[in-house]
Amino acid sequence: FVPCDFTGKKILITAGPTREAIDPVRYISNHSSGKMGYAIAEAAEKRGAEVTLVSGPVALLPPLGVETVRVESARDMADAVLGAMDTADIIIKVAAVADYRPADSRDKKIKKKDQTGEDLSINITENPDILRAVGKKKQHRFVAGFAAETNDLVENATLKMDRKNLDMIVANKVGVEGSGFEADTNKVTFLFRDGTRRDVPLMDKSAVAHALLDEIGIRL
Ligand code: C5P
Repeated sequence: FVPCDFTGKKILITAGPTREAIDPVRYISNHSSGKMGYAIAEAAEKRGAEVTLVSGPVALLPPLGVETVRVESARDMADAVLGAMDTADIIIKVAAVADYRPADSRDKKIKKKDQTGEDLSINITENPDILRAVGKKKQHRFVAGFAAETNDLVENATLKMDRKNLDMIVANKVGVEGSGFEADTNKVTFLFRDGTRRDVPLMDKSAVAHALLDEIGIRL
């Protein structure tokens, strides 16, 4: 039995990594598989929501019934999210956005030193923090973020929730077996603006998605 508790709600979800081009064949990215964000999109659609999924490059099929917008870079993702947020009631930012990008992406493939005689160095520059921009103009919307941390999980995640003006953050410890980037399961802690905390046991990402929607549902 799946409740239809999100009927009439518009949910905007981001998933996957972003890719920041170094040249036409190389990029900076991370290990995000997109599985957690896609699981939330699928669960929300089943529960009656109208879902828009902004996805970085992943190997997953778009969930049935979900409007999926594919993007590459953090700047593309920022444009898509800021463009779609006006009509959203709930925004869940699961994507592992690359914090930095090459300052000047080359339009030709970079050659090796033995051909150019020059040492290669790449200057990097900071990407926009999409969630922070969303938090600034959130108004009545419910905004949730994710925080992947290697240490001081709750402290770091709480700081992010405050800094980015979120209603909730899902804290995710990196480096725990069966949890995080490429796994089918996840072990997370939900933290809320009002100080409430819920430790969720290791579960399938789809079960984590439903637990997350349960929590959002009772707070709407
Ligand atoms: O990278 P960080 O740990 O700060 O990410 C926490 C949250 O912020 C995640 O929900 C992520 O999607 C979001 N984020 C973002 N834009 C960035 C960096 C992170 O929206 N440039």
